[in-house]
Amino acid sequence: MLNNEAVNHWKVETDANNIAWLHFDNPGASANLLSQAAIRELDDIIKGFKNNLPQAVIILSDKISSFIFGADIKEYTALENKQQALDFMHKGHALMNRIEALPCPTVSMIHGLCFGGGTELALACNYIIASDDKKTKIGLPEIKLGIHPGYGGTARSIERCGPIAAMNIMLTGRALTARAAKKINLIDEMVPIRQLKTAAEKYALTAPIRHKIPFLMRLANHAVIRPLIAKQMRKQVAKKAKPEHYPAPYSLINLWLKHADNKRLMLEKEAEAVAELATTETARNLVRVFFLQEGLKSQGKQTPFEVEHVHVIGGGLMGGDIASWCAIQGYSVTVQDQDPARLAQTIKRAQYSFKKKFKRDRRAIRDANDRLMADHRGTGVHRADIIIEAIFEDVAVKRALYESIEPNMKPDAILATNTSSIKLEDLSSCLKNPGRLVGLHFFNPVALMPLVEIIRGDESDEKVVQQTLAFGKNIGKLPLAVKSSPGFLVNRILMPYILEAVTMVDEGIPAEVIDKAATDYGMPMGPIELADTVGLDICKSVANILSEALDMPLPENLKNLSDRKLGKKTGEGFYKYKDNKPIKNKSVSYANDKEVQNRLVLRLVNEATACLREGLVENQDLIDAGVIFGTGFAPFRGGPLEYIRSTGIDILSQSLASLETKFGSRFKKDEGWSEIK
Ligand code: NAI
Repeated sequence: MLNNEAVNHWKVETDANNIAWLHFDNPGASANLLSQAAIRELDDIIKGFKNNLPQAVIILSDKISSFIFGADIKEYTALENKQQALDFMHKGHALMNRIEALPCPTVSMIHGLCFGGGTELALACNYIIASDDKKTKIGLPEIKLGIHPGYGGTARSIERCGPIAAMNIMLTGRALTARAAKKINLIDEMVPIRQLKTAAEKYALTAPIRHKIPFLMRLANHAVIRPLIAKQMRKQVAKKAKPEHYPAPYSLINLWLKHADNKRLMLEKEAEAVAELATTETARNLVRVFFLQEGLKSQGKQTPFEVEHVHVIGGGLMGGDIASWCAIQGYSVTVQDQDPARLAQTIKRAQYSFKKKFKRDRRAIRDANDRLMADHRGTGVHRADIIIEAIFEDVAVKRALYESIEPNMKPDAILATNTSSIKLEDLSSCLKNPGRLVGLHFFNPVALMPLVEIIRGDESDEKVVQQTLAFGKNIGKLPLAVKSSPGFLVNRILMPYILEAVTMVDEGIPAEVIDKAATDYGMPMGPIELADTVGLDICKSVANILSEALDMPLPENLKNLSDRKLGKKTGEGFYKYKDNKPIKNKSVSYANDKEVQNRLVLRLVNEATACLREGLVENQDLIDAGVIFGTGFAPFRGGPLEYIRSTGIDILSQSLASLETKFGSRFKKDEGWSEIK
């Protein structure tokens, strides 16, 4: 006999075995979020079991591709102070504790995405069963939002998997496949989707004894060993995140170090720690970055674009990597180059990329290899839905190529150029259908940089722009539509910052001091090392274009480049390189390093306001999104415009004015500052 009790987010269905199936189905949404309302409702249902205890409880989702996507992050942004945050955490804790204390077996049945609060809910159950489907991903990614698990997930994941594995997934925030989750004991069983229900029922009705974590793993939790492991963990974390910028991982390590012996206390302190973290500037900005990322993804959702075949022309540094990236993403790809030897290298490099991506999954490597074809003669042109051109940066060469391929292109096929500096209008004028040309500007290295700029030329067809945005999203990148203008958005904003750094080297300030000023601010790499990594010849050519268009004089150090000192690729640039790493003198110092930092940062943010004034992208947030995902700009600061807002326009204007007095008009405040909202 079925007994259905409909509520808003949850539906309770009791079957003939008296198992209560708790179906989660967020009304009107494609994914389940564990909002405060959903927590309240579920808590009421669980409370109701006190007088009417079922044989067992199974928690499942009625959504097609997610179990629970996590807590509702929007609710975090509304938290004003620590007390509010603490009340918020306590509600989640009360629910999880109540589930854990139920005197009947409890099972979570996971298919699809299960993150954050969803995983914490699963951890509160006795058993976790997951489908082995590709869609199933399980994780505790809170660290990426500047907090750590706050609904009991810290203590419970450690209890289940042991501290090493559990801390690893919490500190990295990475998502696990069901297989990986099973391997570390995060889930009890992984089954094909058609057997999921039966497996959950079996656990609910037989309540088998839970697998115990091995002795050695438990040993890592011992009070004597913990400080040693914690020290090691801090060291690992420090390589990626400074405590003053990203406090959450350090707070998590401390929580474990201090309270791992006492679960009740650890849960209590977990809520307090997360309440503290949730109201920091870092967490607010990382949540902002999450929404900026969602904003970019949604740019690619407006117009559907079915691509069956991609043709890449130019198998060099960029074209080769773009081709292998598209093959990794599941597309059939041909890659063309005029130089057969180069093409052979391209395919060799692609194999390396496939192995790096798919590791020991031989079938995935083989499939990617099958999808990518070398195509010296360009036979792929006629069947491609999108052609990506990444040949030499030369207007005449590109135009000659376009004229030769256009007659063979499908009538609706898009021609996308990866040019980093040529005006689209200078290229499109040779085409019979100039509207089909759009910019698709990838960043180097293609596999690591999440952003692609979609450049809208004066003549680009709007449908073509929208389809290219969709393509950008479909290949797993974050697409950003940018107006055609010198340097587009990212290089335009980055270049003044790099030029200022090189100017400082001209003045005699050590490169190490300049780079440290930038990394202290939160940049992933200093500007001098970045220039060396990109290649000084490439920097110079982008700088040349911008200096002509925007009156940015070139520093002496860039004007006179030696072919033997072009940066990392030649073994020497501003730094000398050993084993691909710069040799830095750690003992150099400079008295006025604060000014060094101001000079770098203010050139960058001032240029960001100029782009705002010129309307290069659709709104203010997209400038921050572009700079963060295109350059790695300190995410915990929320982007250059957010940095201006949070530091204060007046304070930064004064700094700019004093730099202008000392160093000249390049520090003149742009009129765009008045548009910052
Ligand atoms: P590259 O010199 O490594 O590769 C260019 C390739 O194009 C060479 O293999 C060459 O044989 C081939 N090629 C030249 N003319 C051809 C033609 N008519 N038909 C077929 N193949 C031809 O150059 P890279 O660095 O890959 O740059 C390619 C494009 O990407 C340029 O437009 C550049 O501005 C842009 N870009 C470069 C970035 C970088 O970091 N290198 C970053 C973003 C964009």
